Amino acid sequence: MNTQAKLRWGILGAARINERLLPAIVEAANSELLAIASRRHGAAAETLKKYAPCYPGIRALDDLEALLDDRQIQAVYLPMANGEHAQWALRAIEHGKHVLCEKPMALTVADIDAIETAAQRHDVQVMEGFMYRFHPQHARVLELIASGLIGEIRSVRASYSFMMRPARLYRLADDISRGGGAMWDIGCYAIHSLRMFFRQLPLSVMAMAKYVESGADISSSGVLDFGDGKFAQFDFSFERARRCEYEIIGTQGGIRCHVVWQLPGDVPVISWWTEDGRQSEERLPAANHFRLEIEHFSACILNGKLPSLSLADARDNCRVITAAIQSAAEGRRIEI
Ligand SMILES: NC(=O)c1ccc[n+]([C@@H]2O[C@H](COP(=O)([O-])OP(=O)(O)OC[C@H]3O[C@@H](n4cnc5c(N)ncnc54)[C@H](OP(=O)(O)O)[C@@H]3O)[C@@H](O)[C@H]2O)c1
Repeated sequence: MNTQAKLRWGILGAARINERLLPAIVEAANSELLAIASRRHGAAAETLKKYAPCYPGIRALDDLEALLDDRQIQAVYLPMANGEHAQWALRAIEHGKHVLCEKPMALTVADIDAIETAAQRHDVQVMEGFMYRFHPQHARVLELIASGLIGEIRSVRASYSFMMRPARLYRLADDISRGGGAMWDIGCYAIHSLRMFFRQLPLSVMAMAKYVESGADISSSGVLDFGDGKFAQFDFSFERARRCEYEIIGTQGGIRCHVVWQLPGDVPVISWWTEDGRQSEERLPAANHFRLEIEHFSACILNGKLPSLSLADARDNCRVITAAIQSAAEGRRIEI
């Protein structure tokens, strides 16, 4: 195990989410941020001033290619707009960089296949940035399930929503086919978290959505059919009060994870109950899942291990999302 080295990172894009990820890279024990680049003049420098004012050594570039050409940089974090992920992931891979790509990795399965082929050719690792999975609360939920506490899982529900602030309405500016709207933004989490519990591809999906003028969905709901009466429901929206929870119902009880996307100040709470009358609410210590995600990816690269979120997982998520989008558009059940 390589415990001394630090993975040398660059960031491709002065995106808003750097508020969380940039400090996470800077603070991760096994990582070092060398540079951030933007296509907008001065935007990278501004981002550094805001989120890493105490780290004067990090370079700000106004040219994305210059960052990719920097041979010191081993890995890039890619927080661009959803429709740009695949294209820039491929460019980064061709420059020999390992890539942590924000969710969703791509808008089509074909693009994920292309990323996998390129990653194999250039011998680099690529992971989709589902940071929530690195919070220890999900390991605890999986531990409870594995203990047999709630019996066999029969149903899961993931509900994610918040009121979109006017300043963030650009997230609804693009048609769903170009990566705009709630499905690609927060629905991808819902589908990802539901898939964690059935560990297989669903057989089919039935979904419905409300669209805004741009063609982006603002609210969507639907059901994944995993066969034999095992269903998973997703429900997400940009026009409802904040909710980010999942609930698992088994043959002998249920488990709820109350706050899946942990923001600073949130308390991780898991509650469970059983048919024989036992119940508990567990409060876990706070944890920064962004930093844990960075430390995981860096450790994998430094120690020659595969990241826990595989390209096969990214491909399966994309398959389910695209089927759900088709189902909502066509008003019918889509086989996966
Ligand atoms: N993991 C999470 O918790 C989380 C949370 C939110 C979003 N995300 C994901 O992170 C990605 C970025 O989301 P975001 O909301 O942070 O995106 P964003 O601020 O819109 O930035 C996306 C890209 O647009 C460009 N950009 C930023 N501000 C701009 C402006 N004012 N005018 C013109 N261009 C601008 C930037 O590229 P240049 O700097 O090169 O111009 C940036 O890389 C998305 O894929 C999203 O799904 C993840």
